[in-house]
Amino acid sequence: MQTSFTVNGRAVTLDLDPRTTLLDALRERLDLKGSKKGCDHGQCGACTVLVNGTRINACLSLAVSHEGDEITSIEGLGDPENLHPLQAAFLEHDAFQCGYCTPGQICSALGMLNEVAQGWPSHADPQVAATPAMSDEEIRERMSGNICRCSAYPQIVAAIRAASGAAA
Ligand code: FES
Ligand code: FES
Repeated sequence: MQTSFTVNGRAVTLDLDPRTTLLDALRERLDLKGSKKGCDHGQCGACTVLVNGTRINACLSLAVSHEGDEITSIEGLGDPENLHPLQAAFLEHDAFQCGYCTPGQICSALGMLNEVAQGWPSHADPQVAATPAMSDEEIRERMSGNICRCSAYPQIVAAIRAASGAAA
């Protein structure tokens, strides 16, 4: 099936087997290897990308279902000379060891901060109608879909808290 979408601001059209996941389309067809395949089962978050600003697990989504969508992967967030604030915060706070989970962590954090800005509630906040506070507990709950086998969680939380503009 011919499918067209935008990846990191670039319009692309691909002929795809309809069973191709978005993750495989990005990695194998577009050579964007930043998004990682950790589990391929929606359990680790290493493949997280943004679709129209919302974070998803790219391993669980068929590429042909994204006709006309705007997809952002880690490659679209910054470059070595001009890091995205979340990338800079992850470096500053040493928020990784092997780095395998990091692209997904950063894309997920960006999606999560968008959700907070829109007032989406989380299980960590007993007042579901209240404006979410960016406590460490709140960040941990909202980032719970992103697993880090190196267990860099304290630094990841610190980096996200710093990048979110809250007191570090
Ligand atoms: Fe997609 Fe693990 S590779 S959630
Ligand atoms: Fe190694 Fe997270 S830094 S899995």
